[in-house]
Amino acid sequence: MKISKSKNRKILIIGSDGYIGSALSIYLKNKNFKVTTLDTGYFRDGTLIKNFKANLDIDVRNLKKTIVKKFEAVIFLAASQNDPSDSINSWKFYEISKKYTIKIAKICKQNNIKFIFPSSCSVYGYGKKVFNEKSITNPLTNYSKNKLKIEKALAKLSGKDFSPIALRFSTVFGYSSRIRLDLVINMLCMHAITKKKIILNSNGLAWRPHISIDDVCLAFYLCLISNINNGKLNIFNIGHNKNNLQIIKIAKIIKNLTKAKIYFKLDEKKDFIYDRNIKNGADKRSYKVDFSKFKKEFPEFKQKNNLKFEIKNLISRLRKYKLTNKILNNFKFYRLQKMEYLLKNKKINKNLFWS
Ligand SMILES: NC(=O)c1ccc[n+]([C@@H]2O[C@H](COP(=O)([O-])OP(=O)(O)OC[C@H]3O[C@@H](n4cnc5c(N)ncnc54)[C@H](O)[C@@H]3O)[C@@H](O)[C@H]2O)c1
Repeated sequence: MKISKSKNRKILIIGSDGYIGSALSIYLKNKNFKVTTLDTGYFRDGTLIKNFKANLDIDVRNLKKTIVKKFEAVIFLAASQNDPSDSINSWKFYEISKKYTIKIAKICKQNNIKFIFPSSCSVYGYGKKVFNEKSITNPLTNYSKNKLKIEKALAKLSGKDFSPIALRFSTVFGYSSRIRLDLVINMLCMHAITKKKIILNSNGLAWRPHISIDDVCLAFYLCLISNINNGKLNIFNIGHNKNNLQIIKIAKIIKNLTKAKIYFKLDEKKDFIYDRNIKNGADKRSYKVDFSKFKKEFPEFKQKNNLKFEIKNLISRLRKYKLTNKILNNFKFYRLQKMEYLLKNKKINKNLFWS
């Protein structure tokens, strides 16, 4: 893969003040990109430190074409996470994000701007085989169905001078100043630190691939400096084959690192951290993924440290903060719960604009 330099190249990160964006914008600035950040700030206050605010503190739906045109590449992180239940019409939630993603992709196409979209390995849904990019997808939630719909729309848009990239990420974990506690490894580490218990809300038998946030940043970086120009949508699974693990295995790694005990909470009592996609203790989303395509294209994409080392690293970084049960149960660190709070308290309207 031909590589071009990053120095002073102007890039725009849309959705910069979330979990990945807060880490990625620093990572890319350190690589000498000229980074402009944009975010409407739904989760800006879910932060462990005094944190930065996007240069463009706006909703992406109000972003003008004249501004987008100034950039060489757009990383499009803005999205709705997790499937809402009773309080909002789930599909409406996702239609909004599909519409704004494609609107910006079209501007990128017209202006020869690289477009990188984070999709998800959850599009594979369930299966005993190991899925690669050619496998038939089987998305089980509206979140993953929406990711596929966006991929399809990007494929349709692709063509001469527009070769968008869709990165199907494993489930991310690791330290970011705006950490999400609704992601499995982050959540279980927080349990172990604050409660000395690792509480599983399923039987732990589901398979998932996991990736550290540092490796996510590396994948975006490699795509930014690549010269992919084949006139197609380029889909890559992003992760490491060794990190396909059952949740119970993850829990045992954390147990060994912290001496916390594992508990199963299989009833569906709707407490705060209850995952609404899990029924009778079984998580239907279970998939193993093959990651060789991206590594073949980008041999530089190597796992620096093994999963256990990365989890240990996360635990020691989290331990530097005064982490209490209060933080573990703070809705600001959970995407769905925060959106429900904003809607219920009329801070945002049903179209997800600030009131
Ligand atoms: N975290 C993971 O495990 C994971 C895995 C696969 C894919 N992804 C994808 O990566 C992307 C980023 O994930 P994340 O974990 O950082 O999510 P996040 O929720 O922490 O960040 C998303 C950011 O987008 C912003 N945003 C949402 N709607 C907006 C709008 N209309 N205008 C401007 N900003 C808006 C939010 O305020 C938030 O800061 C998402 O597309 C997600 O689906 C994440």
